[in-house]
Amino acid sequence: MDEIRWGFVGPGRIARLVAADMQHVPHARLSAVASRSPQRAQEFAREFGAERAHGSYRAIVEDPDVDALYIATPHPQHHAIALAAIEAGKALLVEKAFTATVAGAEEVVAAARARGVFVMEAMWTRFQPAVVRARELVEQGALGQVRLVQADLGVDKAFDPADRLFAAELGGGAMLDLGVYVVSFAQHFLGVPDRLEVVGSLAPTGVDLEAALLLGYDDGRAATLLTSLRQPSPGSARVIGTEGVIEVPPRFHHPHAVTLVRRGGEPELIEAPPLGGGYSHELIEVTECLRAGRPESSVMPLEDTLAVQRLLNEACEKLGVHHREDATVEV
Ligand SMILES: NC(=O)c1ccc[n+]([C@@H]2O[C@H](COP(=O)([O-])OP(=O)(O)OC[C@H]3O[C@@H](n4cnc5c(N)ncnc54)[C@H](OP(=O)(O)O)[C@@H]3O)[C@@H](O)[C@H]2O)c1
Repeated sequence: MDEIRWGFVGPGRIARLVAADMQHVPHARLSAVASRSPQRAQEFAREFGAERAHGSYRAIVEDPDVDALYIATPHPQHHAIALAAIEAGKALLVEKAFTATVAGAEEVVAAARARGVFVMEAMWTRFQPAVVRARELVEQGALGQVRLVQADLGVDKAFDPADRLFAAELGGGAMLDLGVYVVSFAQHFLGVPDRLEVVGSLAPTGVDLEAALLLGYDDGRAATLLTSLRQPSPGSARVIGTEGVIEVPPRFHHPHAVTLVRRGGEPELIEAPPLGGGYSHELIEVTECLRAGRPESSVMPLEDTLAVQRLLNEACEKLGVHHREDATVEV
């Protein structure tokens, strides 16, 4: 494929930011957008230069001039759209959290593999140039053995039961929205843990407001992680090894630089700002994977997505939060 024709599903807050970054993606163009409302689709198409505006999700799934769909609905509305799109053979970039449930994530991954369709979670952090540099340094042995990851991500969000961040039917709660970043970051640098402990509190709507997580590995490695909708926190991260530390400054999920401190050495600032708003890199990854005919991203593989989803839902369950996929999505 010479050029990847993208379709956007769910023209909300994040879709606008990602669409604005499309200009930084070679061999790609915004071809179509779909909303539950024809008017919202048309407004988005006009603003971002999409050629076609669809007034239903079904219409974009069936659009023959779309190669890849970006799913930007709330989390419980990813699953049904992803399954319909895979059935139609469309490649997918699916916003984080990938789904609302583990069963939903497993079903989407199984369908993608059975149909031979490319699917990737939109975990943009992994593609930030500064995070890529951190990963390279770790792989080159700059930290020795990585023993500990710390990360926090909290916002001060006024409680509103109708806001998707607090509404149970929209997959609300800190864990799936922000916790996904700290958990995915830890999993990226440490792998899948052997156990998980969590302490947290709930909002009046029954979703998680804040949580402290401990990921434990049988050999003594660990990750200590915080997430919150109740109070802001710096949003920094560090990867600590036997021979050094990498500090990822706020906000660590889209940093412009990292600092390497080798044991006994001076801090080395490594600047690597993102292109555009930082969403360009995940779009470039999918576009390049599709052009090269790769079945999956090696940076954000589906096994990692499943591992992270299992941890998120285990933490939610332990806090008493039971997520569900939305079976009523019209697609
Ligand atoms: N990577 C990031 O930095 C980042 C940042 C924010 C959010 N996200 C992720 O992106 C997804 C969407 O978040 P957002 O903040 O953009 O949400 P949003 O502003 O509420 O937009 C979501 C869109 O989904 C569509 N939708 C479909 N079913 C819906 C339903 N039952 N209720 C409400 N909207 C529904 C709506 O569009 P139509 O009705 O017009 O079809 C809506 O505009 C979430 O999974 C979130 O975690 C990622």
